[in-house]
Amino acid sequence: MTSTPKNTAKHNNSAKIQDATALLHSDHVLVSGLFAQYEKTRSTPKKMELVSQICAELTVHAQVEEEIFYPAVKQALKDKELVPEATVEHATLKELISQVEGVPPDGEMFNAKIKVLSEYVKHHVKEEEDEIFPKAKATKLDMAALGAQMAGRKQELFAQRA
Ligand SMILES: [Fe+2]
Ligand SMILES: [Fe+2]
Repeated sequence: MTSTPKNTAKHNNSAKIQDATALLHSDHVLVSGLFAQYEKTRSTPKKMELVSQICAELTVHAQVEEEIFYPAVKQALKDKELVPEATVEHATLKELISQVEGVPPDGEMFNAKIKVLSEYVKHHVKEEEDEIFPKAKATKLDMAALGAQMAGRKQELFAQRA
């Protein structure tokens, strides 16, 4: 399970330009890997590190989708359903994130919250990848430009959190 260290190697961003859906897909894969690591580890410090990383990745990802990807797709598709639903799901995700971010992993209730968060993310990601992405790709949207814009915004948001 080797994931690309794209968020740690900031200077490398320009070397690998991803289009919009590829960029979002990479984030989805990265977060799913972090959840898998959380399930496997028994170490509390490792859990804390993973939760902090999961929350940061999910928060930045959701914000970039809401600011850039969702509005572009909504307009291109004249969508009144998929993007509003996804936005409502983001609100639920943020609520779940607020229950675990910065909270010490203290046993079964904490593990349960991470499990529910991971299942919720899986459901949300499946809807994006199965429903929104194929429709978005079929439009005339400039996915390369959107991807570049999102990559820049991600970098900015991670810098603000650091
Ligand atoms: Fe999303
Ligand atoms: Fe997403």
